[in-house]
Amino acid sequence: MALSFLLDPPLTADLRERIVRLWTDVTNAGGPIGFVAPVTVDDVRPMAEATFAGVEAGVDRLLVGMDGAEPVAVLFIVDNRFDLKAHWRVLKRVMVLPGSQGRGYGAALMREAEAVGRAMRLTGLQVTVRDGHGLDAFYAKLGYTETGRVPGALRVAPDDDRDELQMWLDLR
Ligand SMILES: CC(C)(COP(=O)(O)OP(=O)(O)OC[C@H]1O[C@@H](n2cnc3c(N)ncnc32)[C@H](O)[C@@H]1OP(=O)(O)O)[C@@H](O)C(=O)NCCC(=O)NCCS
Repeated sequence: MALSFLLDPPLTADLRERIVRLWTDVTNAGGPIGFVAPVTVDDVRPMAEATFAGVEAGVDRLLVGMDGAEPVAVLFIVDNRFDLKAHWRVLKRVMVLPGSQGRGYGAALMREAEAVGRAMRLTGLQVTVRDGHGLDAFYAKLGYTETGRVPGALRVAPDDDRDELQMWLDLR
């Protein structure tokens, strides 16, 4: 079933809770979206609420992929909060429900974000990627190229530092 997309849907209590649960489930399935598993919804909620606040302030944008009535794919289009970088955005917390992965939903979500970026007349979109999950291949298939790498930037465990990659889609 093809996803339908909602851009900046009202952040009702129900939608907030579903996104917090999705974020938690994706993390616990090993997804590198701001946390290291295992986490509970209570671990995720403060970061999620801070992220929702940026959307509610009209600064950032929320894109939700719906499978029928269920939100199964989410990303945030995040403003740089810096005038000299007002012409591009960072895509954050790109996630697809574990049971729905591998069906093309992630690629469809990213393509929709690209369409939103073009409609906003942005010059580019950036994603930051935790190395070691093969995600550079996912983004490369969507046209993103590696533009930077910070060695060992992410300490996911006391003896496990991962590079952080910046990947970029030029929209000019
Ligand atoms: C990464 C993620 C968003 C991809 O969504 P998805 O719906 O599973 O991916 P799709 O089915 O659309 O896959 C599109 C293509 O990317 C490839 N791909 C998907 N996930 C990949 C991964 N982790 N590593 C390498 N390639 C990947 C698929 O094989 C597919 O290739 P194909 O077009 O040649 O068949 C999803 O797996 C997810 O939520 N992962 C956990 C969270 C995460 O890693 N988010 C990114 C943080 S930077």
